[in-house]
Amino acid sequence: MLTKEQVKKYKNLGNSKLQHLVNTHKDNKNLLFILENLGYLPNDFDESWVVDLTYSDNKNIRFWAVKTLGKTRKIENIPILKSIAKFDKSNDVRREAVSSIGRIKKEKIINVLIEFLDDKDPKIVLQAIRGLLNFKNKNIVQDNLKPLLKHPNEMIQTVINKEFFPTKVKAKKIQPHTQSYDYLKNVVVLGDVRNVLKLIPDESFHLTFTSPPYYNARDYSIYQSYNSYLLFLEEVFKLTWEKTKEGRYLIVNTSPIIIPRISRQHSSKRYPIPFDLHYYLNKIGWEFIDDIVWIKSEASVKNRNAGFLQHRKPLAYKPNARTEYLMVYRKQTEKLLDWNIRQYNQSVVERSKVKGKYETSNVWEIEPKFNKVHTAVFPDELCKRVIKFYSYEGDLVFDPFAGSGTFGKAAIESNRYFFLTEINNKYFNYIKNNFIECNIFDHKNISFLTISNFEEYIKNDTNRTSS
Ligand SMILES: C[S@@+](CC[C@H](N)C(=O)[O-])C[C@H]1O[C@@H](n2cnc3c(N)ncnc32)[C@H](O)[C@@H]1O
Repeated sequence: MLTKEQVKKYKNLGNSKLQHLVNTHKDNKNLLFILENLGYLPNDFDESWVVDLTYSDNKNIRFWAVKTLGKTRKIENIPILKSIAKFDKSNDVRREAVSSIGRIKKEKIINVLIEFLDDKDPKIVLQAIRGLLNFKNKNIVQDNLKPLLKHPNEMIQTVINKEFFPTKVKAKKIQPHTQSYDYLKNVVVLGDVRNVLKLIPDESFHLTFTSPPYYNARDYSIYQSYNSYLLFLEEVFKLTWEKTKEGRYLIVNTSPIIIPRISRQHSSKRYPIPFDLHYYLNKIGWEFIDDIVWIKSEASVKNRNAGFLQHRKPLAYKPNARTEYLMVYRKQTEKLLDWNIRQYNQSVVERSKVKGKYETSNVWEIEPKFNKVHTAVFPDELCKRVIKFYSYEGDLVFDPFAGSGTFGKAAIESNRYFFLTEINNKYFNYIKNNFIECNIFDHKNISFLTISNFEEYIKNDTNRTSS
């Protein structure tokens, strides 16, 4: 069996030795191994044997042969690469051929790549765009790329938009990315979140994590209709979007809920909240990033199997719902995540690193928490994980539907600041008691305010100090 070292050795011995290795290992498995392990190519590399392999029946061999031709960056290979890009049966091979043409980086490739801008595979168009962007300032390139803003594919539109039509950011009076106003730090406001958010400056929060009311499934949430419930959430998350810093996250915990039937003559109705809410969040400008599934043990959830367990009749199967979603969104921006991370100084980055073992998958097994006062509280562990994966030390994190204030408590315990809103007086007072019991007040200055107190509090903070 060939080894990587052998391939490297023969490559370094020169073209004839390498040719000999290829001739004595002509089966697909070995040829693929040689191509995959060629690595960097010497200047005098003779690629004639590689050209032959672009006609192989094996798609992977053709792919790697094309990739290898690309590594030579030779203008002479343009015709063969162009022909492969046009006619190969496999779109992966065609895309690699366009990529290989792009790697040549000589003006000669401009007209060739332009020919692929109307390819029916958007991935090939994107690859051609990538190659052409090396000549972004040339009129011919601009004249051919700018019209792609109207291309039906959304990724192509985004790239063209970012490269040629970047949004002009209005100079807003906002805090530097890592900082937040002191008067928002460790504050709980009693009131409708929509009214509270209208009082605070744009781009204040680093992270929002929340579990919204469950439509009409619990007593604290009464809406006229499912549609009006979704419109209410749209309003809350639109305001939240405005108050969120550039490129930062919103994580919404929801699950489908069931409204029980009114009598045996009627059916109960199930509402797929996460799936319906997604449409509104996307419309607002929250970019979907991930779906994390929170799994609870079967013993901890409501049993819906009693009937089926007896009769076993298909169609009447009702699985026990052990999962909820954490839908992860990012405030849409042209900036990469690296930009967000670069805003923090090195010591904050070091202190905030997620150390030791951590959950590597999007399945989080965490037992639910039960509470005598509030019927739907977050487990502490859930809040702590969200905070550590999606914020930095010293950030300001927000929960618009605070309930018992679990997220605020986790924020303090993780060296972050919180801002919470809760409409129900009973829960607002419960947060206070909960914080007393957990000695949260020992650590920090915490303010519990009505909306009018909060308004006063902001006005009095004439200095608007930040840290
Ligand atoms: C699902 S619970 C959140 C529980 C919370 N995650 C916890 O750990 O305790 C939703 C909360 O939103 C509150 N709420 C409902 N409508 C609100 C509004 N318009 N403004 C602020 N809070 C609201 C409810 O009173 C309820 O406590």
